Amino acid sequence: MSDIIQLLPDSVANQIAAGEVVQRPASAVKELMENSLDSGATRIQLIIKDAGKTLIQVIDNGKGMSETDARMSFERHATSKIRKAEDLFSIRTMGFRGEALASIAAIAQVEMKTRRNSDEVGVKIEIEGSEVKSQEACNCPEGTSICVKNLFYNIPARRNFLKTDSVELRHIIDEFQRVAIPNPEVSFSLYSNTTEVFNLTAGNLKQRLMSIFGSSYNTRLVPVEENTPIVNIKGFVIKPEFSKKTRGEQFFFLNKRFIRNAYLHHAVQSAFEQLIPSDSFASYFLLLDVDPKSIDINIHPTKTEVKFENEKAVYAFLRSTVKKSLGQFNISPSLDFDQEAHLYNMPLKPVDGIIRAPTIKVDPDFNPFKTDTAPSYKKNYSDSELSNRANWDKMYSRHADNQLEFEIKKDDTQQSVDPQWDEQLHESNKKSTYQLHNRYILSHIKTGFMVIDQQGAHERILYERIIDSLEKHKSATQQELFPKTIELSTADFALVKELEPEIKAMGFDISEFGKNTYVIHGIPADTADYDSAALLEGLIENYKQNLQELRSDKRENLARAMAFNMAVKSGKDLRQEEMNNIIDELFACKMPYSTPSGKPTITTFSLEDLDKRFKK
Ligand SMILES: Nc1ncnc2c1ncn2[C@@H]1O[C@H](COP(=O)(O)OP(=O)(O)O)[C@@H](O)[C@H]1O
Ligand SMILES: [Mg+2]
Repeated sequence: MSDIIQLLPDSVANQIAAGEVVQRPASAVKELMENSLDSGATRIQLIIKDAGKTLIQVIDNGKGMSETDARMSFERHATSKIRKAEDLFSIRTMGFRGEALASIAAIAQVEMKTRRNSDEVGVKIEIEGSEVKSQEACNCPEGTSICVKNLFYNIPARRNFLKTDSVELRHIIDEFQRVAIPNPEVSFSLYSNTTEVFNLTAGNLKQRLMSIFGSSYNTRLVPVEENTPIVNIKGFVIKPEFSKKTRGEQFFFLNKRFIRNAYLHHAVQSAFEQLIPSDSFASYFLLLDVDPKSIDINIHPTKTEVKFENEKAVYAFLRSTVKKSLGQFNISPSLDFDQEAHLYNMPLKPVDGIIRAPTIKVDPDFNPFKTDTAPSYKKNYSDSELSNRANWDKMYSRHADNQLEFEIKKDDTQQSVDPQWDEQLHESNKKSTYQLHNRYILSHIKTGFMVIDQQGAHERILYERIIDSLEKHKSATQQELFPKTIELSTADFALVKELEPEIKAMGFDISEFGKNTYVIHGIPADTADYDSAALLEGLIENYKQNLQELRSDKRENLARAMAFNMAVKSGKDLRQEEMNNIIDELFACKMPYSTPSGKPTITTFSLEDLDKRFKK
């Protein structure tokens, strides 16, 4: 038999490599923008059509390429950035693997125009599926412009796998920000379908953050700076009172490269300990600079995971530096937080002449179960809800004088029971439901008892209610006495604009109000006690968080975000009536057994289980 192993043709090898380097339009955006940075550009423009599916164009004013280099740049493992293996240990450029352009050209139609400062004319190359279609001299400005058209045109499976435009655009915006933040001295712009999403002029890091996330960041940022022999740390953390329940903004840049690192995140998070609630996340934008020798950025083609030589030392420096900054800016744990808060919330100077309320406060005593807002047990249920209820009723019977299974029989011989305890036991006997550690609701059922996760159950109830109002386009709005303006980051503003019809269908009454700003005139009726700005901001945050899990159904996503936003949290003390409401409404749900994200809401314990435990 003849030999059967053959070397793959370059075009096939490139396509395979492309699978790793280019997963979606955003990955091509990242590679092209990084090339522009490496070329020394001071101005980089990104133009996107149809979330990058039709066109991704990056134009820079960098050093350009010679005719030969322009042709070479599309070869695999062709790079001007390293020459020998040792160079891998002194990398200061973003690229070095020499595979991005080859990969992109294997799976798209690419047109490159480039000219060096020293050349009279530039060169234009068209390449498609790794095949050069044309190469000619052209008149073009100094620098490089690369158009990537119809990404994945020759891999239909990949193309079909792409998410909706809004999801893909979100990924592009993320990559764009990750390049723009650590390079504030370079100006960047992003156009999406002729809409200007970003126009970032050159400046310092603080100005860059403000132009991306909104001028309100002026008063939220605490500077961090420290130089040590192992790592130089520079950047900002967000004041503790602006930390978010969902992840918010966490950016680490290592030698100007965006990285993810759970270990370092922990370092910052622990510096915030006692300053923020344990379920909130610290937000930060931190640029770490280390000797390239001490890291390995070569573990993954997208280079977001990095191995450190001195991870423990970097952790310790990072933690103490952030702690020090928080302390210096009077945000140390020894201060009475609530009392001091207004001092450092005060904007020093209004950025745009308008002074806005700087803090967003949620009323901790807010009770989402107020009987006048929560639908009562006796609402009109649909047929399916009724049959669901019937099933439940079979298993579940509660009446006021039920004894709880966990009632402790008082030992007659024991005389000195703490009277307080006695009273509590007596009290719980009267109750038909019982709250455990402010997290679970215990209730008697025919066969034993059940335990309900209060937060999960409430999320389910709210989720179904919101989905219902989104489907019917009908929900009551509570008009605000004093409409509130909310300034958003450019990306969040674009998101709210896109979701506006759905947000309105949920009961928000909002309208655009100048650059990156919305006015909230009204909020959903059953959220009347919430701070309107906090409610909308929480919705956006949770929605973004869900997007990261790549769920594409807009309505489902919004309903989940809003339900999570409004749900009574674990740890909240509930009144008897509130617990009863949760149970009644949960049983009226179409899917009472799980939270919108699929976790169980209810678990039951039978008397048999208990008997066994007591060896009866
Ligand atoms: N925008 C650009 N301006 C100047 N040179 C570029 C640009 N983009 C790519 N190049 C050149 O093409 C080469 C190959 O690019 P790429 O495939 O991304 O590999 P890498 O960036 O890893 O070197 C680069 O090393 C660089 O010399
Ligand atoms: Mg590159």
